[in-house]
Amino acid sequence: MFLFSRFQVIRSHISIFYPQAVLEEYTESIFEALDVEAVVQALQTDGLYLGIQLPTTIIEEILAFTKCEPCFANFDPQLMFYVEEKELWQQKYGNLVVSDYVDPERNCCAIEKITQDSKLLKIAAAYFNAKPVFTGSRLWWSFATNANFQERLNFAQELFHYDPIDYRSLKFFFYLSEVDAASGAHVCVRGSHKNKKITHQLTLFIGRSDRDISQYYPQEDILTICGNVGFGFAEDPFCFHKGTPPAQRDRLMLQIEYCLNNYHF
Ligand SMILES: [Fe+2]
Repeated sequence: MFLFSRFQVIRSHISIFYPQAVLEEYTESIFEALDVEAVVQALQTDGLYLGIQLPTTIIEEILAFTKCEPCFANFDPQLMFYVEEKELWQQKYGNLVVSDYVDPERNCCAIEKITQDSKLLKIAAAYFNAKPVFTGSRLWWSFATNANFQERLNFAQELFHYDPIDYRSLKFFFYLSEVDAASGAHVCVRGSHKNKKITHQLTLFIGRSDRDISQYYPQEDILTICGNVGFGFAEDPFCFHKGTPPAQRDRLMLQIEYCLNNYHF
């Protein structure tokens, strides 16, 4: 899969081997205004749709969760701490680049609700042309720190890359802090889910520098995505993307992932 999923022709025909979704099973949505068809259309052309707003009640519930649950730093479950004590732990552990909450969809009802949302599932079903499988959520902080390039690289910051996680996959992202260009904006190359240089598809090393990307893609397609608390977007992870290191403010972000297969089992 890691190799074959890189080819557009395989990805666009693979759905014939998978069951279709039963759309009638998807009934409740928290995204009242969301136009499913418009999202699917944008994903097909651009690999990206911007502007899925989380309802206020859901935002409040998730923010309350982040205050009363500990998170763990730098992918190390040993480094547990409460985010309000961040400065203290930074002195002890050194640079905390990212910090994740444990199993967000199991421990936070609001996140569980998003993972089962009928409109998100319908979007994934239409985009895959097959039944989507929920494969995981991630709720994490990216901290404004003095971490160096190498430290940040380990956490998908700095270098453009794409994620060959399955033949078809779709991620929904939601900002839970104010995000501008100086506070950890996600960057995505519009249309790059389909349009890649052959060398970008074949190499085992999928990380690409800014220079590499801007030599091949038009500047107007390299989007720095900013947004208020609750701003969300859908992205095909085959698009080139990267996290930018927050310089001024910490970023809190939620990711919901659907694929054709759940390889975690
Ligand atoms: Fe990624």
